[in-house]
Amino acid sequence: MMTKIVNSWNDFDPLKHVIVGRADHSCIPPEEPATSEKVPIDSTMRGMWGPRPLETVEKANIQLDNLVKVLTERGVKVDRPEPLQWNQPVITPDFRTGSMMTCMPPRDTLLTIGSEIIEAAMSFRCRFWEYLAFRPLLSRYFNEDPEFLWSQAPRPRLSDKSYKHNYYDERISLEERLVRTANKDFVTTEEEILFDAADVMRVGKDLFIQHGLTTNRKAMEWFKRKYPDMRIHAVNFPGDPYPIHIDATFVPLRPGLIINNPHRRLPKEQRVIFEKNGWEIVDAAQPAHTEPPPLCYSSVWLSMNCLVLDHKTVIVEASEVHQLEQMDKLGMNVIPVAFRDAYAFGGGLHCATADVYREGTCQDYFP
Ligand code: ARG
Repeated sequence: MMTKIVNSWNDFDPLKHVIVGRADHSCIPPEEPATSEKVPIDSTMRGMWGPRPLETVEKANIQLDNLVKVLTERGVKVDRPEPLQWNQPVITPDFRTGSMMTCMPPRDTLLTIGSEIIEAAMSFRCRFWEYLAFRPLLSRYFNEDPEFLWSQAPRPRLSDKSYKHNYYDERISLEERLVRTANKDFVTTEEEILFDAADVMRVGKDLFIQHGLTTNRKAMEWFKRKYPDMRIHAVNFPGDPYPIHIDATFVPLRPGLIINNPHRRLPKEQRVIFEKNGWEIVDAAQPAHTEPPPLCYSSVWLSMNCLVLDHKTVIVEASEVHQLEQMDKLGMNVIPVAFRDAYAFGGGLHCATADVYREGTCQDYFP
């Protein structure tokens, strides 16, 4: 039967169909030009790679399965990817790396814009084949939805030319990292189009794209040419020493309201478009934890990485008491869901999902 399956223009309209990741076979990838520069110096993950401990995979899957249950009970249809054996090497004419990573955070790989899903042009060599885990789903959507536009951004070659080698020296201090973020000076070059889907914040006709370690300017230029009727905004968050993915930094909850990481405030000149259109940008609540869980790539700010189900309902990690309370004060009905065991596999509740269908159409929120 032919029906409309794919439709989503933002992260807040009523969610009807979503993809939730799986942790099976996940690996810690070996260092490579992209990641060696991004794993914090003091992280226990420095220098180690290989399959993640099985008990951590099982615990993550329990929480992912529980998220599926919560969503299903609320009438949201859920699809799951088919993980590959991520411990296989990636070998292309341009590079070789010892293993792949995971398909836990689908948000990084798949970008839904209206009736289109784009497989992103990711900058990590270990994530080169990650989209394959989603191919069975995309193929089904293509067969069943006559309007589904299935796209892939130009495949990056990820040769040595795509990275600044030894650009970040191991001894570089946090302060120096912040200076480089402020100067928009990142490890990736402008050799080719590079972006992770999770660097793109979709708000109807406007795409706000974080320029950082995983997304370059050439990607913004590609989006401009691909969507001449949309507005593409480059955004930067100078307080972030490891700017990767926008969804623990700048998170819309409903039309007119965004929570912003108070350590990574949007610069004044970039706030204008929101202020002019009556949008409120509020500081997100403090995380409840002082440390991320073991073997985690992300910061404690996954506290704000929530999954909005509609303009009044949001799923927040169950132990994030301050974020839960703030959501309540902001007028949201909050569904707490335990999720910290999944964090190490690539992120929080928003990262772990990818939109297939939300009600609503392409609105112009910033006329
Ligand atoms: N860079 C963010 C932080 O550590 C984590 C973002 C994770 N998001 C994702 N889509 N995987 O604060």
